[in-house]
Amino acid sequence: MTGRFILLGPPGAGKGTQAELIREKFHIPQISTGDILRKAVREQTPVGQEAQKYMEAGQLVPDEVIVKIVQERLQKPDCQHGYILDGFPRTVVQADALGRVLKEMQVALDGVISIEVEENELVRRLSGRRTCAQCGETYHLIFHPPQREGICDRCGGRLIQREDDREETIKKRLEVYAQQTAPLKDYYQAQGILREIKGMGSREEVFERICRVMKGSV
Ligand code: AP5
Repeated sequence: MTGRFILLGPPGAGKGTQAELIREKFHIPQISTGDILRKAVREQTPVGQEAQKYMEAGQLVPDEVIVKIVQERLQKPDCQHGYILDGFPRTVVQADALGRVLKEMQVALDGVISIEVEENELVRRLSGRRTCAQCGETYHLIFHPPQREGICDRCGGRLIQREDDREETIKKRLEVYAQQTAPLKDYYQAQGILREIKGMGSREEVFERICRVMKGSV
């Protein structure tokens, strides 16, 4: 299946988890601005150096930096038949910019899927998350533990806690989401392409709901 989709939702809603399942099942690229930025920080590129201070504080990286990254990524040949945007757009400015880029490319979005999860569950998911320092695979101490404690099942790398998954920063990220990103639900609702799904339940149950929405949108 092809299609251009956005996964919307607060930190910890499961966007990255679900985007990866979608990529595997439907063979469309997952474009995660968080992953792109974390790689840039690891490699200490100029973008990474600029982004690091915002990310560690739980704030958004400036719109112009992000828009340029996504615009370039969408021109790549693997995006021709669709993709899943995970973590972008996050502000109305970014959404407007995306709209302009898509118009220039003469394509349109097929759907915006908003994953709805209660706040106490978000905190539980984020504080228990562990990520592979080597390949970026995501785990959870309780909901999705690795086979060997502290070691990535996929590549054997060391599992670490993301710098922005500490309690104070989680609080800040949730505030930033409510102020700057949640208004995008109304933005896409007005375009008639918003689909809200329940993000509570197992990863497989949530994925089932997303697949149903995707199949009904293209
Ligand atoms: P980003 O990486 O995009 O972080 P986020 O939006 O805060 O989202 P998360 O990655 O924290 O959560 P997720 O929804 O992907 O959940 P996950 O699947 O991992 O951004 C990080 C930073 O980069 C931002 O703060 C900002 O500074 C910057 N940035 C990125 N994009 C930007 C943009 N467009 N503009 C400006 N700045 C930008 O799941 C979380 C945990 O829950 C995992 O442990 C997982 O195993 C577990 N889990 C998942 N699903 C379930 C389930 N159903 N049941 C139980 N546990 C589950």
